[in-house]
Amino acid sequence: MSDRKNIIVGNWKMNLTPAEATAFAEELKSKLGSLPDNTEAGVCPTLLALTPVIEALKDTPVKVGAQAGYPEPTGAFTGQVSMEMIAGAGADYCLIGHSEQRQYFGETDASVNARTKAALKAGLTPIVCIGELLEERESGVMEEVLKRQIKEGLGGVEISSAGDLIVAYEPVWAIGTGKTATPDMAQEAHAFCRKILCEVFGELANGITIQYGGSAKPENAGELMAQEDINGLLVGGASLKVDSFLAIVKA
Ligand code: PGA
Repeated sequence: MSDRKNIIVGNWKMNLTPAEATAFAEELKSKLGSLPDNTEAGVCPTLLALTPVIEALKDTPVKVGAQAGYPEPTGAFTGQVSMEMIAGAGADYCLIGHSEQRQYFGETDASVNARTKAALKAGLTPIVCIGELLEERESGVMEEVLKRQIKEGLGGVEISSAGDLIVAYEPVWAIGTGKTATPDMAQEAHAFCRKILCEVFGELANGITIQYGGSAKPENAGELMAQEDINGLLVGGASLKVDSFLAIVKA
């Protein structure tokens, strides 16, 4: 479907202090020029840098997101930041279900589901991450894993347009390893994810942007994005330098 938006988002993870993140945003603003047609770009800094980065990018089309958010709007949840607070700070997106959250911080398909509903309620665009481990791919259960992550993570989630939600397919073995899925492998997984998304959201799913993530960089962005069902990239390491991030956005 040609009207799917191409969405490139940088996930800075636990990198860049508030001062570094703000300097990045200012440099990005000065070098940005115009975005290619039908393209959206965004960055997800540490929460501590959310406000200064939003401020620095406010006159640009670049969107800003958080890397995690708690599903309850307020309350006795020491250490947590709610989706309402993130939206109130002026952010656009929230990453949900990233494999590092699943691996280190107990994220489950059920918590993905609660966070996604809360993000939508708060007016954020959730970027819901799914993806298989290497042993799951090698033992032939990749489709089963992706299907479970989509059905349990997104079941009962209500969207009114395809643009309300972004899905990121990130094979865990490709994240931060320099091993990118080949464009064919990624396309095959994306087409499968879209089929399952159609079972959850019906026709609307044809318009949902499915990003690829896992060692995306300027050298492979073009061939990945040339695939029919790859309509964006979630970029970790290669998003930490303005020139490399911009090269991916313009690829
Ligand atoms: P990477 O990370 O680009 O460094 O592999 C991607 C991600 O974790 O979103």
